[in-house]
Amino acid sequence: MPTTFLVDCDTGIDDALALSYLACRDDVEVAGIVSTGGNVPVDAVHRNNLALAELLGLTVPIARGADQALVEPPMYADDTHGPQGLGHAVLPEPSRAGDPRSGAQLWVDLARERPGELVGLVLGPHTNLALALEIEPELPRLLKRLHIMGGAINHRGNTGPTSEWNIAVDPEAAQRVLTEFATALRLPVLGALQATEQIVFTATELERLEHLAAADSHPVARILADAVRFYFEFHRADGFGWTAHVHDPLVTAHAVTGEFASTRPLAVDVELAGTLTRGQTVGDELGRWGREATVELLTAVRSAEFVEHLLTTLETGLR
Ligand code: BDR
Ligand code: CA
Repeated sequence: MPTTFLVDCDTGIDDALALSYLACRDDVEVAGIVSTGGNVPVDAVHRNNLALAELLGLTVPIARGADQALVEPPMYADDTHGPQGLGHAVLPEPSRAGDPRSGAQLWVDLARERPGELVGLVLGPHTNLALALEIEPELPRLLKRLHIMGGAINHRGNTGPTSEWNIAVDPEAAQRVLTEFATALRLPVLGALQATEQIVFTATELERLEHLAAADSHPVARILADAVRFYFEFHRADGFGWTAHVHDPLVTAHAVTGEFASTRPLAVDVELAGTLTRGQTVGDELGRWGREATVELLTAVRSAEFVEHLLTTLETGLR
């Protein structure tokens, strides 16, 4: 039986790697995609998702999400992901229109249609899932499980000094999701920066993608190589060297296989009021709050094994 996913993402270079990975797996069914503004504005994210999904053969509903975060004006990371979100890649115009429903409504409809079956995968800000919870408060019990890329636990941020991008864009939404999903049948799995930054592409992985694109392969191979090359250029400009942190695919592959990392329970909350630390994810390691765990935190990442798995999956699926 394949695992059925609803993917909510802000595509985004590493989101594109994650979507491609899912499309390459025989044990995965993608039931829907929600385009959430984040790395680039929501319309650019939506266009990327429509074009990529079409090339990848994912004929599923793709719904455009909200224009901005619950409280704050939008912010974008086009320095990291390029003006259109996929670096140097040039995507064809999608021929299919998006689903007319809102992103939030798609979450609700798919969860109600397949109670207990749908795995939610949040690879961007939490805005649309938070809006979906307003429509259907039972979502945490309708989903099979929720997997999230977001946060930084006892680790510096990548957006503010202590905040990670997916949380920093919409801290209120992230807090609402973490609070509500703490009552799910199974705790959400949170892949935060201290886990996902262990997934480091080097020149070798970029060369493998370039090699795949140069072969007479799937058109998405060229898109990924051109996107990831931009990601390297950003990381070099940001002081990390000729490399790239590839966040979203680790959380995605763990959600599919249960492999490449372990998890441990932790109570996590989002700082909303801090003048210096707004958007920080705070983990209560010593149980000072006296609260039950709210997430299963990804830990003990087997990075070399995962990077090989990701590249092999893409090389096999995008031939
Ligand atoms: C997260 O932020 C985005 O830029 C990436 O796509 C990833 O989801 C990492 O902080
Ligand atoms: Ca993302």
